[in-house]
Amino acid sequence: MRIGVLTGGGDCPGLNAVIRAVTKSLLRQCGAEVIGIEDGFSGLMQDRTRVLDWRAVSGILFSGGTILGTSNRANPMASEADTEAALATARKHGLDALVAIGGDGTMAIAHGLAGCGLPVVGVPKTIDNDIEGCERSFGFDTAVATVTEALERVQTTGQSHGRVMIVETMGRYAGWIALEAGVAGAADVILLPEIDYNPQAVLDACLAREHRQHYTVICIGEGAKPRGGAMTIERMMTDSPDPIRLGGVANVLREWLQPHLGSEVRATVLGHVQRGGRPTPFDRVLATQFGNQAAQLVQQGKFNRMVTLAGGRLDSIPLGQVAGKNRRVPMDHPLLIAARQIGVSFGDA
Ligand code: F6P
Repeated sequence: MRIGVLTGGGDCPGLNAVIRAVTKSLLRQCGAEVIGIEDGFSGLMQDRTRVLDWRAVSGILFSGGTILGTSNRANPMASEADTEAALATARKHGLDALVAIGGDGTMAIAHGLAGCGLPVVGVPKTIDNDIEGCERSFGFDTAVATVTEALERVQTTGQSHGRVMIVETMGRYAGWIALEAGVAGAADVILLPEIDYNPQAVLDACLAREHRQHYTVICIGEGAKPRGGAMTIERMMTDSPDPIRLGGVANVLREWLQPHLGSEVRATVLGHVQRGGRPTPFDRVLATQFGNQAAQLVQQGKFNRMVTLAGGRLDSIPLGQVAGKNRRVPMDHPLLIAARQIGVSFGDA
């Protein structure tokens, strides 16, 4: 057997742990040859590959990023010529299957390629934790740890100066990072893309604290928006399967709040700090399990499926159930309810 492996979309901590586990599992269990495809689907279209042997994947468990490189622009389903280029590379290397590690965009492309006859297994990755059918994606835990530390640091400086500190997290249209890190980092106000915030309610929360504790910490997901308003788009990338890049909502909120408050309001956009660095032990373990599970699916001939975690158990679901969907924070999520009950404002009063 010859199996291709690629990482697509934005990177996240734990990708190397998956590459390592897929490769070791396939080498050990069925003597497969594993072909690493460089820079995601762009490498598949342009025939950039390298052999992944035992040595190539040794010592990478702890490292962030991806040894294969990635791309969030290349889309082999964009045109017939692009699809043919990708399939030609698969034929040239005699690939029996492709393991595609990526987010919802990568899963949609993988589903498309499977429809063109290339057997594919998907492995969900994203710090955003928003992939349909998968309750926990690797990379998320690391991102939450990074944001939590940032919130802690902002607490002490905010307290010293008596300021309102706004911290903006990634997460696109889902508020998982803002919710978990906001609770872990003791944010007073957490604003999620799932709950349009009332600026007056956020101001009231800050004013109440201004009188009592003299400082406030707000954790806001990049996809959050005020009632009746729009999301804050940083830029459009027309050559990307996902053209919208969010960013800047913390500054939008800062500008609205500042004239109404005696305290100074400062905004911090954490950005790609959340995606970089070493995976936490939790993410190393989850990524290893996901990689091994992908190798099992390949050996069992279960294609056009994505590895999942559901009810705490490893499983898989058809790629068709994932493509084009987004898993968002439900309003009855226990952590959301608990946070409300201890007095965290979600800006929707
Ligand atoms: O999907 C992961 C993610 O980190 C989002 O939270 C964020 O909006 C986006 O990727 C940023 O991607 P880029 O690498 O293009 O800036």
